[in-house]
Amino acid sequence: MARQSSRGRGPASGRQAPQAQGMSSSSTPIDRRTALGLVGGAGALVALTACGGGNGGSSTSTTASSVVKAGTAVVPEGMPQLEAEVRDLHLRLVAAPATAEIVAGTPTDVLSFGAEVIDGDPASVTPSGSYLGPTLHVRTGQRVQVIFENQLSQETIVHWHGLTVPQEQDGQPLEAVGPGETYEYDFTVVNEPGTYWYHPHPHHLTGEQVYRGLAGLLIVHGDEPETTLPHGARDLGFVLQDRTIGADGQLVYVASNHDVMAGFVGETLVTNGVAGLATSVERAPYRLRFLNGANSRTQILTLSTGEPLQVVATDGGLLPEVANVPGLVLTPAQRSDLWIDFSSYEPGQQIDLLTAGTFVEVPGMMGGGRKGNGGMGRGGIGGGAALTLNPKVAMSFVVADGPAEPGEVPQGLAGQVTIEPSEAVNTDTPRVFELMTRQASHWINGMQWEGRTAAEWETVAFGTTEIWEFVNLSPMAHPMHLHGKAFRVVDRSWVNASGEESWAQISSGIVETGTRDTVLVWPGQRVRIAVSFDTYRGYFLYHCHILEHEDGGMMRNFLIT
Ligand code: C2O
Ligand code: CU
Ligand code: CU
Repeated sequence: MARQSSRGRGPASGRQAPQAQGMSSSSTPIDRRTALGLVGGAGALVALTACGGGNGGSSTSTTASSVVKAGTAVVPEGMPQLEAEVRDLHLRLVAAPATAEIVAGTPTDVLSFGAEVIDGDPASVTPSGSYLGPTLHVRTGQRVQVIFENQLSQETIVHWHGLTVPQEQDGQPLEAVGPGETYEYDFTVVNEPGTYWYHPHPHHLTGEQVYRGLAGLLIVHGDEPETTLPHGARDLGFVLQDRTIGADGQLVYVASNHDVMAGFVGETLVTNGVAGLATSVERAPYRLRFLNGANSRTQILTLSTGEPLQVVATDGGLLPEVANVPGLVLTPAQRSDLWIDFSSYEPGQQIDLLTAGTFVEVPGMMGGGRKGNGGMGRGGIGGGAALTLNPKVAMSFVVADGPAEPGEVPQGLAGQVTIEPSEAVNTDTPRVFELMTRQASHWINGMQWEGRTAAEWETVAFGTTEIWEFVNLSPMAHPMHLHGKAFRVVDRSWVNASGEESWAQISSGIVETGTRDTVLVWPGQRVRIAVSFDTYRGYFLYHCHILEHEDGGMMRNFLIT
């Protein structure tokens, strides 16, 4: 099995990392208790209890060892007020073991990013309040330098998911640095304003490191505010994940071949690093940015009110127009920003965000024998059998007291989709990538990860726009991601009928009117994308963003020459 790497790292090797060194929360506990207000129908006093631990002498404000009590209301800070003038940003970023309370009353060993501003706008780093890394705030046109320190007991590297950066700034597996080592980044942000994220990318270890806590939001800000969207405290980021926590309070990762084949799905929905997140909101419109940060669970978001969702932005930034959907499909790594107006709700009212995991039992493929899962979808599998959606509460919004300030969803967002499929150099002969499952593994055109090489069929000319075709001959859905550049989804068609019926149950939740850097390719489907290779030359990754598939080798490079 490819996942058992030649270096002998088993799936559970990261269990040795916590507490081994560095930023343990017990070393310098600092208790900050802040009562944030009264929310909830029962009028419970809601407090955020954060234990911001030290990190060995630095003045970091957002260390890797913050602990948030699960089950309490946590108010994300919203977007900071950044300086009017864009100046260079110099950050120190650390990956280290820490302890977090994901489920109330249970300390869990995690891995976590911490960051501090060495030079630049101090508002560029805001704490997540959980095992998640701090949210990094950068600006279009800004030069960003990052000194990354690996304080883990295994190799790692940081990838800026969705950012267009040169090859050596991209955090590719071959750049991974060992324990105690550093990697220095220096790039200019060229992306559209929007919601991005950062996570590790060492080969064979990405799934486990992300699962144990290494991920954070990365917000690209433009010249504020973006159109007429809510901003500041009414612009909140949410990371949707799932975790299985064992009786000993520790995270359970890949337990079987099935988890590797199908992708690992946790039993408990975790939002912004805690189970049972409740966020207080004012009676006003909000911009709510959602990242599906799960390893493999494709999620379908709905509101308990049954109201449709108004999507204003996707992976590559603002949409041309607001998209109205009954439920929103988010594959692992995808982002979508919603506009929600809470003004029509009564103070104390609770509105749940539900997420359904896509789950299809594919007869014969997995060999059965899966363990019970509390009725939770096992995620990521699509195929001939019926789709089980089974929505669960991922988090709740609780409406605060105060006067209603209704707003109107902005008409005509500024988002421009500049990629023109008709300008592609290969409209008649699209580049075809066949996704296949065989020998208990997943393949792209019969190939898997081979390091920094690209075949002739993966070599593209700088300055061109191309049509790529992902053809899914596998019984599973694969969210395919390209590094370097958001693309436009041109169309979908069927090469076989295996997934047609299940697709019909979720297709109304697909939003692809803007740009995406990750696209859901359903079983039996042919998905055509238009992508422009117009920024940097070099090797860039493309892979399935089910992290267990990526770690298993469903990852290659394309070469821009
Ligand atoms: Cu989230 Cu290779 O990426
Ligand atoms: Cu990426
Ligand atoms: Cu996959």
